[in-house]
Amino acid sequence: MANRLPVDRITTPEGEPSFRTSPGGLVTALEPVMRAADGAWVGWTGSVDDHLEPFEHDGIHIIPVALSADDVELYYEGFSNDTLWPLYHDVIAPPAYHREWWERYVAVNRRFAERAAEIAAEDATVWVQDYQLQLVPRMLRQARPDLTIGFFNHIPFPAYGIFSQLPWRTQIVEGLLGADVIGFQRTADAGNFSRAVRRLLGYQAKGSVIDVPLDDSELASAKHRISAVRPNKPVRTVVARAFPISIDAESYEDLARRPDIQARAKEIREGLGNPDVVMLGVDRLDYTKGIGHRLKAFGELLADGAVDVEDVTLVQVASPSRERVRTYQRLRDEIELQVGRINGDYSTLSHTAISYLHHGYPREEMVALYLAADVMLVTALRDGMNLVAKEYVACRFDNDGVLVLSEFAGAADELKTALRVNPHDIEGLKEAMLTAMRMPRAERSRRMRAMRKRVTENDVERWSSEFLAALAAPSTSLALPA
Ligand code: G6P
Repeated sequence: MANRLPVDRITTPEGEPSFRTSPGGLVTALEPVMRAADGAWVGWTGSVDDHLEPFEHDGIHIIPVALSADDVELYYEGFSNDTLWPLYHDVIAPPAYHREWWERYVAVNRRFAERAAEIAAEDATVWVQDYQLQLVPRMLRQARPDLTIGFFNHIPFPAYGIFSQLPWRTQIVEGLLGADVIGFQRTADAGNFSRAVRRLLGYQAKGSVIDVPLDDSELASAKHRISAVRPNKPVRTVVARAFPISIDAESYEDLARRPDIQARAKEIREGLGNPDVVMLGVDRLDYTKGIGHRLKAFGELLADGAVDVEDVTLVQVASPSRERVRTYQRLRDEIELQVGRINGDYSTLSHTAISYLHHGYPREEMVALYLAADVMLVTALRDGMNLVAKEYVACRFDNDGVLVLSEFAGAADELKTALRVNPHDIEGLKEAMLTAMRMPRAERSRRMRAMRKRVTENDVERWSSEFLAALAAPSTSLALPA
């Protein structure tokens, strides 16, 4: 279950209804997992009042949940993306707290939970995804105590000092604790969650295991799930730990090896005027991604004369995202102003400083861009994982290319031979860009090999099988002291 289905319903320019791959890392990661599984994907089609019957798409059973215009405004744009998203990303933008957004979040979470409760087979496993559905685990457990329930948070989980701003913090934590296993991207996120549980509910975590006392209704309906009985205190155990997500690395490499895609990469470089260095940024147009910091650093390198527009160019793909939320509208204005200024000041008739593309592209075109880029810039101010960093690495079977990676992206825990940056430090960012451009081939290759080893070993198949194995393991509850 996820807020989004793997495909979005769109209307073509000819007025025909059609589907296109949904934006974001969640879908990138889960689509191959679900194609290989005999399960159903419960989620929203991305359009308003779309009452579709269940259908098949690309080998996946799809169970649509309809959202009204008010649901989209209050639950999705409001509470999910104007309260939780900024709060969970270290309040880079100020979160807004509105009671009617929260009420609608509860109502829509209930609708998702009811839909899953209707369709799940007896004793089935339900895996709930991401911050939009944090109340679903508990609601689902109450409706269907026979189910095994997992939850995975694709975005960071904030430190308690930040999380505690949320007026509904206790309900969120209780909602999540309805799951048997709660997965996070980084160990730090799991630690933040366990601390929130302790501070708000007083339950102590032992390592990654939290004992959750059963309430009366759970006691009556879920006797078989009680894992440890202490004097007067029956509990169930919940595991909360890190499972860093990944991509289907092999499928990216397969695309990168295709001659037509390599030819396209060459064509892209030629189209850019065959500069010595192509730098690339690929992001949803989101304030967490540090796009402005990256542009500022590049603009200063041009201004200082450290790089010449004839030699170095930056391609920035900024795919449209959450366009009705004001913070995103403002961000778009700021970024486009910045791009316009830099291009106005430094581009020539034959060379453009920044090629700015406000579009989403099919995967083949993205892979060609990765192959065309000498330097990949991932400068997020805060990011759960950042799968773009892993996609770039997976595509570079030539062991070439330099990844500049923010220490605030979850991927930095794994991709240790990337050029690590603090994107707030503009001088440091400029230096890293210059180092990347000038890095000798042998060093590029050494760094890329180490990253490729990690990305090919820890691919999304391993991520999902490890999570599902943790969910299936009775050992976690049996290991508890009685
Ligand atoms: C991130 C979130 C996903 C979300 C995606 C795209 O990857 O973790 O849950 O689906 O962004 O955002 P959107 O609001 O368009 O679904």
